[in-house]
Formats: sequence, structure tokens, C-alpha cells
Amino acid sequence: MEEKKTFYITTPIYYPSAKLHIGHSYCTVATDMMARYKRMRGYDVMFLTGTDEHGQKIELKAKEAGVTPKEYVDNIVSGVKELWRLMNISEHRFIRTTDDYHEESVQKIFKALYDKGEIYKGKYKGKYCTPCESFWTDTQLVDGKCPDCGREVIDAEEEAYFFRLSKYADRLLKLYEENPGFLEPKSRMNEMVNNFIKPGLEDLCVSRTSFTWGVPVDFDPKHVVYVWVDALSNYITALGYGNGKYHDYEKYWPADVHFVGKEIVRFHSIIWPAILMALDLPLPKKIYGHGWLNFNGEKMSKSRGNVVDPAILCQRYGVDSLRYFLLREFPFGSDGNFSNEGLISRINSDLANDLGNLVSRTVSMVEKYFGGTLPAEREADPLDQEIEEMASALKAKVEAQMEAYQFQNALTEVMKLVSRTNKYIDETAPWVLGKDPEKKARLATVLYHMLESIRVASIYLAPCMPGTSEKIWKQIGANTPEICSWDSAGEFGKLPANVTVAKGETLFPRIDMAKELEALEGERQKLLAKEQPAQKPENTTGATSQKAEKEPVEGVTSLIAIDDFAKVQLRVAQVVSCEKVEKSDKLLKLQLDDGSGEPRQVVSGIAAWYSPELLVGKKVIIVANLKPAKLRGVLSQGMILAADAGENDVRVIFADPEIPNGSTVR
Ligand code: MSP
Repeated sequence: MEEKKTFYITTPIYYPSAKLHIGHSYCTVATDMMARYKRMRGYDVMFLTGTDEHGQKIELKAKEAGVTPKEYVDNIVSGVKELWRLMNISEHRFIRTTDDYHEESVQKIFKALYDKGEIYKGKYKGKYCTPCESFWTDTQLVDGKCPDCGREVIDAEEEAYFFRLSKYADRLLKLYEENPGFLEPKSRMNEMVNNFIKPGLEDLCVSRTSFTWGVPVDFDPKHVVYVWVDALSNYITALGYGNGKYHDYEKYWPADVHFVGKEIVRFHSIIWPAILMALDLPLPKKIYGHGWLNFNGEKMSKSRGNVVDPAILCQRYGVDSLRYFLLREFPFGSDGNFSNEGLISRINSDLANDLGNLVSRTVSMVEKYFGGTLPAEREADPLDQEIEEMASALKAKVEAQMEAYQFQNALTEVMKLVSRTNKYIDETAPWVLGKDPEKKARLATVLYHMLESIRVASIYLAPCMPGTSEKIWKQIGANTPEICSWDSAGEFGKLPANVTVAKGETLFPRIDMAKELEALEGERQKLLAKEQPAQKPENTTGATSQKAEKEPVEGVTSLIAIDDFAKVQLRVAQVVSCEKVEKSDKLLKLQLDDGSGEPRQVVSGIAAWYSPELLVGKKVIIVANLKPAKLRGVLSQGMILAADAGENDVRVIFADPEIPNGSTVR
């Protein structure tokens, strides 16, 4: 028997440091669509995803939460897996970098690199971004700040092992030149060459001694393996490289494609191939760097309070609607702007109006005119031909787009057939044919064409909307796997001539835009409130802290004249950075942009309710003409407005992000 061709596809392994949002789901859904497509085409597919669980950030978060790092990640990883179940992700393997077998392999890989002289011990002096756990060179910093997250970096120095990345520059350039498809889209390759390789690669720090939550370097245990050697190796350790847990490295490696977000393209297209070259292992065939999803034009991040929760959307609109939207709306290689309006209008137009309506009209008419079972008689008309030809030509078009990872185009092609079939209904007017007993054979022919067209479209839609396709197949009487297979979609006329349909539930109920937008905003607010810690601090002495010691205000106690109020200068300012004040549980130190061009520092007693990263990027209202004061020895130039939101709750008053910094509040 001929062996099946293999297809190995991966997603990035996710940091379990925060709840996954729609941006994370985007890549996983795309990978899932690709994996399902290849499976339907008869490939032996390996689809890997997982979690990247080591590092200082996790160690710190666990400490804050008062649990061990392992307990901390266990808790979050179960949520990640739950989300993938909800999103109907069909991965074969889920790797955790804390899995024993992975750790064993990473130690072996590290040692092998060391023994080959590819890793050496040195001293690291550099700029370090704590939230991103990344060292950066001076040239990589943007305005002196972390190029990834824009936050402050600190000077760091420690003994560390280094990987000889610098020596691979020429081999990498050659790799790109000889394999133009190695990194896609093409623009990403240009970026790697011009921004990273040509200016000169530096050796890469691959161990740390300042924290312990990592894979220990077994021959020098005060070091733990630092980030990328650990994380990137997952793609081979999950196949059993260097461990006895799995045995399919030979079968699946090299990977056919690693799907990754644009900001980690550098690690996958420079560091990963260099590590593999150093180990004398084959390189993945392709890295595809997809774009980012923004929300209403802004980067999605917890600190901006604009993350979109995929679970809520699945719950409200069904997982397939969300999967369809993600893959139909945005070209895979570019950034996209997620908006609730966009989601709802796409569901209403493509799924409720076009697809759902087509299925329900067709099945209803077969029931109405023929009691659910078509007669076998036919009467052809030239009008049918266009549908037949379009359906038959679709296979090659969809496959070409899928092979190029153009999910948006593939779905657009399928939906063209759906629209054309809706038009065919108008052209053939089955309701007129239904009135004429002489036209039974013609009516049966028209309805059969509608059913066949739905069958073909639903097969091509199955990798994206597997649950919906199954439901459609049941309704249109496509009852055997053979007539729902990928290959069968290439042939028109596979449904039995006397097919029996079965009306089912409405596939995509129409959504009331205004009502849903309001409901989604409510959900977002709830989520925000849930994420903010709600314990009351002891007596706070910060600039806003007076409120914390008071009961919530019932009413206005004394009246002031408008002139008195005018003395208070209120301005909108944006939080540029924020950190806890040393040795204080209550105070946060915020650097603000108040539009004056000069930095303004304010100390505020809100540490019990806001972790610093939640505030960065937010617009707040400050009392700009308050006399400067020192709190715990730290200068505070003003005060941030906040409200008593309950007995144990204080909330900062955030201003509309559209208001320019420095605007007067009156
Ligand atoms: N742990 C690393 C990956 C290691 S792979 C060997 C990591 N994890 S992550 O959880 O921070 O990000 C996982 C993926 O989610 C990345 O590919 C990233 O680009 C993607 N996304 C995070 N936010 C995103 C959007 N808003 N939009 C699209 N993808 C985004 O990086």
C-alpha cells in the first residue's frame, strides 16, 4: 500500500502568563484550518501546539500569586486547552515545555551544542526588557526602549552561555537566496535581511543565572536554559528528538510549515535555523509570519483593556462564525483590524444571508414541493451549466489558495459559488415552477443543482467550519463519507438522484447589530473589572489615597463657587510607564505624558487595585496644578483622579483614548 504523504504544521507555543485573546486564537484557528484541509486531502498530518512555560516573568507572577511556578502554569494551561476545545482545534499533540521529556531533550540539545563548541561561556552586558524577557542590543532599541513592547529596559550583566549566532549570517543569507519560499510573506524576508542579518548578528545569550524557573543546564546547574533554545526546540522534542516519549521525528521532521506571528519571525527564521544548522539537522521547509489583529485600530493588550475574549464570542455567535470571520476577513500575512461591527456584519451578510439562507430555502423547497425526497426525473436547461462548471472548477481554485496559505481568498472563492447559486434561484424561480404540474422534472433539476452546489461549497468550507458542514450534510442528505470527501467535491452530481433532505435548525440566526454591540461592550467591562485586584490596602498616603480612607460619598457636602473650581487645573495625560514604589504596597509611580513635552511623575495610592502594566497606555485625568509633594521620598507632581467604586474598590477615571494629551478638562 502506498504510504500517505506527511504534513507537519505548528503554532507558536503560548506563554501562559495571561489569558489568551482573539489574537492568539487567530493563528491556532488558521493552523487548524490548514491541518483539516490537508487531512481531507489524504495527508498524514501532525499538528502541534502547546505552551511555553519557563522564564522570569512566570516565576514573578507565581510569586505574586503565592503559588509555585508549576502550580501557576498548570492552572493557566488547563484554560488554554479548554479554549482550544471550545474553538474546535484538532491538534494531535500539545506540548508543555515543563513536560519531562521536553526538558530531557533540551538538556541534551544544549550539551550537544556546547560539546560542538557552538555554545560558550561569557559575560552578558546588555539592555534587558523584564516583561518581554529579552536582551536587546543598543542598535535594536527604539527610542532607547524595548522594540517589542515599548517599555523601559534596564542595564543587565551576568555570567551566561552564548550561542555562536554571529557565524551563521552568511549561511542564513544563502538559505534565503536559495529558498525564496523559506520565509513568507516576502516582505518579512526583506525585513530580516536588512534589519537583522546585514547590520550584523550578535551571539545569543542562551542561559540565565538570575532566576531558576527554567530547564537547568545539567553540566552547570546554576544556569537555566534561557528562552529560545528551550522554546524553539519544542518543534522537534514533541516528535521524540532526544527522548523516548515519541518516535516520529523521522516521519515528520522537517516541518512543512511553522505558523508564527510577525514579532517572532526573527526567532524562527534566524535563530531556529542557526540552531538546527549547528546541530546538523534539517531545516523546516517554511516559516509563515502572519500579521497581528488589532482592536478598533489599536494594539490589543491587557494594559489597554481592549483584549477580545474568544470564548465570549463563541458563546454568543457559535464557534464556526468566529472561525469564519477570522479567516475570511483578514489576509493572513497582514495586520487586521478586529471590530465587533466587522464581525457581526460579516456573519449577517455571508453566513446568515448567503449561506444559511441558501441551505434553508433549498431544503424547505424540497420538502414543500416533493415532501422531502426528490423524484429522479430531470429536465436540463442551459442555465444549469454555469452552476455545474463553476462548482467543478472550484476545486483547483480553492486548493491553489490553500497551498499558498491564502485562507481569505480560498473562502472568498467558495462563497462566490454560494452567491451564484442564490442568483440561480432567482433566475430559475422554483416557486413559479412549483405551481405548474408539467414542470416537476424541471423543478427537481433546479433543486438538485441547488443541493449539489451546497454540497460542494460545504465540503470546501469544512476545514474552516467543520461543525456547520456536518450540519449541512445532514440537512441535504449527504449521508455517506464518500460524498462528503474532498475529492468528491470535484465532481458535480454525487448526491443520489432521489436524495432525501431533512430540515434542521437555522444555521446562522441574524444578529441584531445595535443590541449585540451594547452587549459586547458590557462583557468587555465585566472582564476588565474581573481582572483588576480588589483588595483594600491599609492606610494609603498617596496623592489619591485620601479617598481610600473614606466611605463612599453619598452626596455633595458643601458648595463651592465656580471660581473656586476654576482654580483646579484638570488635564488629560497618558501613562507612559508605571511601576511600584519600592517598599510600599500601596503606591505606584507613574510617568505621564501631559502634552507639555516635559515628563511628569505622579505617585498614586492605587497599587492595591491596579497592577502597573494595566495602566500603561491609558489616559487619565490629573490635577495639574497641585503643589509637588514627596511620598515615601518619591516626587509626585500632581494627582490622578479616581473614584470610590465601593467599600473595597477604587477606580481610576480613564479618559477617552481619542482625547489628545494635555487637553483641559472642564
Ligand atoms: N512563547 C512564544 C512563542 C514561542 S514559539 C517557539 C510567544 N508566545 S505568545 O503567547 O506571546 O504569543 C503566541 C503567538 O500569538 C505569537 O505568534 C503572537 O504573534 C501571537 N499573537 C499575540 N497577539 C496577537 C494578535 N493581537 N494578533 C495576532 N497574533 C498575535 O510568543
